[in-house]
Amino acid sequence: MNAETTPPKTPYEALGGKEVIARIVNRFYDLMEGEEQYAPLRAMHVPDLGPMRDSLTGWLSAWAGGPRDWFEANPGKCMMSAHRGLGIEKDVAIQWTDAMARAIADCGPEDKDLAKAMAERLDMMAMGMVAE
Ligand code: HEM
Repeated sequence: MNAETTPPKTPYEALGGKEVIARIVNRFYDLMEGEEQYAPLRAMHVPDLGPMRDSLTGWLSAWAGGPRDWFEANPGKCMMSAHRGLGIEKDVAIQWTDAMARAIADCGPEDKDLAKAMAERLDMMAMGMVAE
């Protein structure tokens, strides 16, 4: 394939694929479990975060244009709707977004603009999940 026919990389590929996404997710939940400032966010989740580590890795991979396994296993499931009933308060949404921005920065996808865009979009989603 020459340059004209090579399709552009998906965000998933540009981020470093499953390896980097799983690293980001694990760092995110380690921060949530380990730091007192995220205790209210941690308290909303079930004790075992193992399944969440897999689920968020799968969701982010599909969202970024990678393998669609998570979407196929959860047909039609909308993340915004799934969070609507949780009664998320703004302080807790800020904790989510703060831990995620740190995890993305710590796990350093090489494409810094893409890393910034990812953190910004997830921040917008998290803020949209705040209960009215
Ligand atoms: C705004 C702050 C957020 C809070 C407080 C929050 C909280 C939660 C909670 C309590 C659960 C249920 C997990 C459990 O039973 O332990 C959950 C599931 C989940 N959340 Fe969030 N969440 C937030 C934002 C987000 C965002 C922005 C995303 C991604 C865009 C996300 C992705 C997920 C995924 C993939 C699941 C698993 C759903 C499943 O496997 O069915 N969350 N979240």
